Amino acid sequence: MLNFQYYTPTKVVFGKDAELKVGPLVKAEECKKVLVHYGGQSAKRSGLLDRVCEALKDFDIDYVTLGGVVPNPHLSKVYEGIELCKKEGVDFILAVGGGSVIDSCKAIAYGLGNPDVDVWDLFTGKATPKTCYPLGSVLTIAAAGSEMSNSCVITNEEGWYKKALDTDLARPKFAIMNPEITYTLPDYQTQCGCADIMMHTMERYFVLEDTMEITDKIAQDVMKNVMKYAKILKKDPKNYEARAEIMWCGSLSHNGLTGCGTCGGDWATHLIEHELGGMFDVAHGAGLAAVWGSWARYVMDEKPERFAQFAVNVMGVEECEDIKATAIKGIEAVEDFYREIEMPTNLKELGIDPTDEQIKDMAMKATNNDTQQLGAFKKLSAKDLVEIYTAAK
Ligand code: NZQ
Ligand code: ZN
Repeated sequence: MLNFQYYTPTKVVFGKDAELKVGPLVKAEECKKVLVHYGGQSAKRSGLLDRVCEALKDFDIDYVTLGGVVPNPHLSKVYEGIELCKKEGVDFILAVGGGSVIDSCKAIAYGLGNPDVDVWDLFTGKATPKTCYPLGSVLTIAAAGSEMSNSCVITNEEGWYKKALDTDLARPKFAIMNPEITYTLPDYQTQCGCADIMMHTMERYFVLEDTMEITDKIAQDVMKNVMKYAKILKKDPKNYEARAEIMWCGSLSHNGLTGCGTCGGDWATHLIEHELGGMFDVAHGAGLAAVWGSWARYVMDEKPERFAQFAVNVMGVEECEDIKATAIKGIEAVEDFYREIEMPTNLKELGIDPTDEQIKDMAMKATNNDTQQLGAFKKLSAKDLVEIYTAAK
């Protein structure tokens, strides 16, 4: 096992009516004015946005609202938010939404905290963030885990670059999670979320070094739980217990818990998917499901024992004499699970058919023109990514 630091400063308020606690939680931050940031229509339509604003008013908290965040959130909205916050004197950002809204909030918070640089330069590595304004969230979809994560993913529409910025500066102060709020999710979004939650644990699980038994066991149970309750939600979307299990798994899978004692994970599948999200605007979880099998087959020979352990302990595969056969069965079992919850297992099922030129473009963007390698389980160059994208077609 490796030495590790574990840092999860986010206060979690979980359960029915949790959003009503937003007043005291924001008040405790002693801010002057709040930006309430939200997405398209869902938070308005469900009445959640009004409930949150009323709860702020009840505590005499001054606020301004800004909606219109799209999935795979855009840099232009981040600039708009930064300008609005400067004009209005905002010093706390409140997300009412999912990963896209929370990430847009984080990017605005970075922009406000680093006024001397173009916020996009923080994502490309041209500049380093010194600080970040505080933020919190009322979560509406269990998926990205941004409510407790150190990560922020933004798409620059100029060139369709999708980049992540990972620092502890942007960890939210609090996360309000009421599983009932996720009842209104379309099944496709629910299952995209489940696929993403699986992947946040799988990315951390597939490492070459020896791991801690406790970390492996937590990760294995998180994955088994996600599969169990994703299937229940497929049939019974208003099952509170299942919504709650998935919602909490979403946070546990991406707050660092399942990476303790390892290098932190592989993350190549995420970076491979981010290019698909940037270029084709696909839903993140579906994009991950579509490419994971190709990634797994491409890298598994680096340490087939790890894939075999996953196959037996997570996917319930019966051990074969040949370790590689067990490993392959595990990969196939994941794809069977994705089919069962109607997630894609290749790019065609995802609804896209990239040309060879587009595949090369994504591979070059993901590797910064082949100057950086992706992944930890197997280090991948642009050429490797071309093979993986092509195999996923
Ligand atoms: O915009 P609205 O109308 O709210 O609709 C959203 C959106 O269309 C809808 N939705 C959300 N809550 C709902 C709802 N519809 C009905 N009822 C509700 N309660 O769902 C759609 C997807 O929302 P989005 O926020 O985009 O989903 P998700 O949470 O999956 O976030 C995806 C983004 O997060 C990034 C992804 O790359 C993608 O850009 N990620 C962020 C991470 C992080 N910051 O830690 C890690 C992840 O790996 C991921 O990369
Ligand atoms: Zn993800």
